[in-house]
Amino acid sequence: MTRSIAHQAAEELGGPGSVLVRQRADHVRLDQLLHQLDGTTGAAQTRVLRRIDRLVFSHAFAEETVLWPVLRRVLPDGEALTLRVEEEHQEVNELVSTLETTPHDDPRRAALLTRLVQVLREDVRDEEDVLLPRLQERVDAAGLRRLGRQWELVRRISPTRPHPTVSRRPPGNVLSALPLSLLDRTRDLVDAGVQRAPSRLAPAGKAVSRGLAMVAGLVERVPPARTGDRPPTSR
Ligand SMILES: [Fe+2]
Ligand SMILES: [Fe+2]
Repeated sequence: MTRSIAHQAAEELGGPGSVLVRQRADHVRLDQLLHQLDGTTGAAQTRVLRRIDRLVFSHAFAEETVLWPVLRRVLPDGEALTLRVEEEHQEVNELVSTLETTPHDDPRRAALLTRLVQVLREDVRDEEDVLLPRLQERVDAAGLRRLGRQWELVRRISPTRPHPTVSRRPPGNVLSALPLSLLDRTRDLVDAGVQRAPSRLAPAGKAVSRGLAMVAGLVERVPPARTGDRPPTSR
């Protein structure tokens, strides 16, 4: 009988550096942001959504490159289990890309946001209640801490924006991680600069941000970035 990691003590999860403890800390932070999102509109909503993006995309990208391949190796049903969360991640990528091009006064926005919150919550439940407890059964505390260090390292160099065209599995996601991450994080800096810059400079900053988005779109579509999905989850 597997036990959810939601209510276990940190010691049971392998100690402070364990991948299970790190996962849960991020999930708690996500829950706080989803509460903040509730009831926001306009620019305030965009700001909370960007905070969610920055947390969620690098978190999930590192799961797809570091954790799920381990689950597929150590669990007989790892293939089906990981495919389910990869599909959830894929839907989040698609929903956020659609939201980015859906204006705030568009009536379809509410349904997109509701679905986004729902999928993010389902993903957390699947991981905390099913996938991560199964990992806990197979990997000892030292191994969980080692995975924690690897996951944290990859997370820091992972993209911070949606990339629905990239493969959710190695090697495609691994190959595209670094260029996409650089482009995303540069865009994050440019966008933050635009918010602080005098209004006469803002159009230039926005043009740079759009240019970076375009380059990221190209990187996403090169054939190596799309290899690895089986069955494919990318568009
Ligand atoms: Fe997670
Ligand atoms: Fe996830």
